[in-house]
Formats: sequence, structure tokens, C-alpha cells
Amino acid sequence: MTDDRQAAKETGQGGGANTRRVYVKTYGCQMNVYDSDRMSDALAPEGYALTEAPEEADLIILNTCHIREKAAEKVYSELGRLRVMKKQRESEGRALMVGVAGCVAQAEGEEIARRAPVVDMVFGPQSYHRLPELVRRASTGAKVVETEFDVEEKFAHLATPSRKAVRARGVTAFLTVQEGCDKFCTFCVVPYTRGAEVSRPVSQIVAEAERLAEAGVREVTLLGQNVNAWHGAGEDGREWGLGELLFRLARADGIERLRYTTSHPRDMDDALIAAHRDLDMLMPYLHLPVQTGSDRILKAMNRRHTRDDYFRLIDRIRAARADIAMSGDFIVGFPGETDADFADTMDLVERVGYASAFSFKYSPRPGTPGATMDAQVEEAVKSERLAALQDLLQRQQRAFNASLTGRTFDVLFEKPGRHEGQLAGRSPWLQPVQVDAPENLIGKLATVEIVDVGTNSLFGRLINGQDRKGSNVNVAIPA
Ligand code: 5AD
Ligand code: SF4
Repeated sequence: MTDDRQAAKETGQGGGANTRRVYVKTYGCQMNVYDSDRMSDALAPEGYALTEAPEEADLIILNTCHIREKAAEKVYSELGRLRVMKKQRESEGRALMVGVAGCVAQAEGEEIARRAPVVDMVFGPQSYHRLPELVRRASTGAKVVETEFDVEEKFAHLATPSRKAVRARGVTAFLTVQEGCDKFCTFCVVPYTRGAEVSRPVSQIVAEAERLAEAGVREVTLLGQNVNAWHGAGEDGREWGLGELLFRLARADGIERLRYTTSHPRDMDDALIAAHRDLDMLMPYLHLPVQTGSDRILKAMNRRHTRDDYFRLIDRIRAARADIAMSGDFIVGFPGETDADFADTMDLVERVGYASAFSFKYSPRPGTPGATMDAQVEEAVKSERLAALQDLLQRQQRAFNASLTGRTFDVLFEKPGRHEGQLAGRSPWLQPVQVDAPENLIGKLATVEIVDVGTNSLFGRLINGQDRKGSNVNVAIPA
């Protein structure tokens, strides 16, 4: 449950007898999580309260993902279930409105409404601020399909987040700073579903970060499909990149930790590496997908860098911040990938050493160049390679977690833990940490010693029970 939804539930916001209820199901990336929250923000003034129970909802929205075939298929099977639910409702004289949002909506548009007549509204990631109007149109019985592309208009509507909109979000929050992608990797639908790269202006981002901090957020993760391609006019009149933006956000009152995701190796510039060197509050964890370790496949994927470029980049980042943990994404079985290419991927993983990583079988996406390339790789070969890669990545993750036993560092506590008297927080490297600690440490940083390590979680003990305030921050924006 997102914190937003939790808050709506706990406060019973708008929970009168005539309140309508909306259930939002989110698929895919963090950008969709952020967008789902914005959708519920847009519907709140219309009298829609959030519910966690689809059977209570008057409106169900699926916020979808199109990145791989499996993700898109899930949407159609969910729509099959909703068709049954809607029929049942109709026999009871109750209405149910169904909306499909996100990247499947953007990619397939009217096709969804044709294939799944249960759907009343189809709207892409750029239209959610128009949701109240779309809902009104759909309630007259019209089928609404809205997949126009205007990220700037979307950002314009994010410009002044109201206090109400950022009501209690919990301790951590996402903040979208950039959307879209101009890179056109040959496997990827994002440039088609999310459109061209657009950056939000500094003033909007700072205002939203400040609002989040006022609402109790202590850790902000900047989001973008290509977050390190963010750029904009700086407050000092110079053009800023993500590095300068991070230095600026480090001065926002109340924010104690910063993260960003997801980045492209080609956009890791000097200022961003300097931010890793100088900002203790920028967490030492970097998701920097490389996708493959083979130069031939990197080229076919249009990644526009070599494996050596990637190694050199990681050397520079590690020289700036020795304790940085690397994360990444990998695709196995891209068209033309041979055993030797795959061996290069395994070798790259051995050399870099990942704290965590996501890996996928190549899934041909309609409309992308990869889908029509020769030498598509057999499913069985993809499965074999994926198993070998995941085995190696899991061993690396376990080794990384195990290396933290006995180490002492700050944990940001987010919520009650698994057991009575425990709190759950996050390490600087994003692992969940369970600690016996008093509830008043929620929202605070405290020093913890790691005493045990599970598969995914760490277990620690409080060192002094004191909360720690922030970290050393060199806030000068480098020239
Ligand atoms: N097939 C498999 N994986 C994909 N990804 C993106 N497109 C595809 C595809 N067609 C993966 C990449 C990307 C992550 C978000 O999803 O690894 O970094
Ligand atoms: Fe897709 Fe490549 Fe853009 Fe990432 S950089 S969103 S993988 S096209």
C-alpha cells in the first residue's frame, strides 16, 4: 500500500455515505507508483476516496506497464476478471467504471476498448490531471480514449502541489523530475509510450520537495525514465544537470536523504559524480543499467557506449565514493546474442560486482527495431542464460549483504517492523533493516549495528537510541 493510500484509509478522507471510491492498481515502475498517487490526488476534490478493496470501488483504474510482453498480458487477464465483476454489479443495480491508464493505454489506445468492452476510459500517462473531466465524460456512457501527448502540460499541472495533495506520505517519497526518453534503445518501448525527454523546472521540483518535507518526508527519490538526462535553468542562471539539482535539494529543509533512479551511463556527468563525492545525504547506491556486457550487443541495442566505457565510468564513481553499491538491469537473449556475448555479460557482472540487479529475458516489443531483427534467440536458450545470470547476481547480493554484518551505519526508520517493538527502516544501500526500537524513531535516522543478515533483510541493534540529525553536506554547487 502506498503511504498516500494508507493515509486516506486511516483518516477516512471523504468517507461520507455518498462518497465514491476509487481503487488504483499499479503495475511496473516507480514512475507509475508516483502517477497513481497523482491520479488519486486529482480525483480527491471530485469526492473520490481511495480504497484498498476493489469490491468496494465505484471506479477501478489499472495503471499499466508495457515494458515486456508479460506485463502487458497481465492487464488483459485483470480486465477479464473485471468483466465478471461488472456483470455481477449490474445485476445488483450498481455501477462500476473501469479505466486503463499508463503505458499499455498509451501504446494500444482504442484497441483496448475494442478488445475489452468492460473498459470505459483509456488514458495515457500524460492525461491523468484531466481525470475528473474524463470521469465525467465516461459517466454519460461515452467511451473515453485520451492518449494525447503533452508532458509539458502534465508538468504544468504538477507545478503547485497543494498542501492537501501532499498530505502525510510517510517517510519516503518519489518525486518525478523528468519523463520520457530520447535514447531509443532498440529493445525499448519507453520512447514511444512516454515520448521525448522533458525535464521539470527547478522551482517546481524544489517546491514539491519542500512540501514533501513539511508533510514528514525525510527521503526523496528523484524519478525519471532517464533521470540523469534531467537538465534545466539553474537558480544561478547557468544550465544545471542532475548533479547541480541534487546539490540544491540538499539544502531543502527537512530532507535528509536523496536518491535517484534510473540512470543511463552516458548521462553520468562530472557534477553528478561530484554530488556522490560531496553529498553524504546522497545515498551510496546507484542503479546504472548496462543491459549486456557484449560490445556487439551494446551496439545492436543502440546503447552508444562500450563495456570499457562502463568500466571506466564505474572506476570514476568508485573513486568519488568508495562505498557505493552498484545496481543494474540486464537483458539476456537480445537478437543475435551468442554464447560468447553472454559470456561477456557474465564477465562484466563478475568484474563490477552488484549489490542487487534486475534481469530479464528479451521480450520483443511491437514497433521497436529489436522486434524485427534477425536471429531472435530461442526461448529455451534465454531461460538457461537467465538462470545462470540470476544465480551469479544472487550470489553477489548475498555476499554484499553478508559483508554488512558487524558494520555500523545510519538507518532511516519508516514504519513498525515485523514484530512487536520492532521498527523497519532502510540502510543507505536500500536494504530493509529490522531493529528493536521505540516508535518515536519513525521518520528519524539512528545509528544501527548489523547483527544478522537474511536473504533480503538485515537485522540490527540501536547503538545509542539517539536519533541523528542529517549528515555532512557540502552545499556549494560546483562550477
Ligand atoms: N525485453 C526485456 N527487458 C526489457 N527492458 C526494457 N525493455 C525490455 C524488453 N523489450 C528492461 C531493461 C530496462 C528495464 C526497465 O526493463 O533492462 O532497463
Ligand atoms: Fe528505454 Fe533505453 Fe530509454 Fe532506458 S534509455 S527508457 S532502456 S530507450
